[in-house]
Amino acid sequence: MNPIDHYQAIKQAHIGLVSVSVALFVARGIGVQMRARWPMRAAVRWTSVAIDTALIGAGGLLWWMLSLDPRRERWLLAKLLLVLVYIVIGSLALKRAPTQGTKALAFVASVVCVAFVALIALTHGTFDLGALWQRFRA
Ligand code: HEM
Repeated sequence: MNPIDHYQAIKQAHIGLVSVSVALFVARGIGVQMRARWPMRAAVRWTSVAIDTALIGAGGLLWWMLSLDPRRERWLLAKLLLVLVYIVIGSLALKRAPTQGTKALAFVASVVCVAFVALIALTHGTFDLGALWQRFRA
């Protein structure tokens, strides 16, 4: 059987994992803001790492199946860079930012960032980021 036969199933798994991952991140971020302890418990942290690893793995499989080149597919490049930003500011929001205020700021920025990642994923066929950027600069 050709791996591409599983494309739709892997894409659905990717989207499902994205939903669970973002929901857990938002719940943990709110928990951290309320000074709860559960968001940083080992079981919760490892569940989150497992979901995120599977999500990135499924994304990587889709990437491989479509033979995409991020140097040509600017939406994928933008998505990958924003995922990196999301990981860094997400870790600031949950743990590394020094104060409750900066954690809150990082939390809001992470939610905006992941919303952009989803927007890019959903609109890349119809929405030309490069054209928008050129118009913005003109
Ligand atoms: C938080 C991170 C991520 C979010 C929110 C996200 C979101 C999504 C969504 C909503 C779709 C479905 C788009 C559609 O219905 O057409 C999608 C597809 C896809 N994602 Fe992700 N994704 C994330 C991470 C990643 C990563 C890390 C990779 C690569 C390693 C990746 C690669 C892909 C690919 C190749 C597709 C298929 C696009 C297509 O069918 O045209 N994603 N993603």
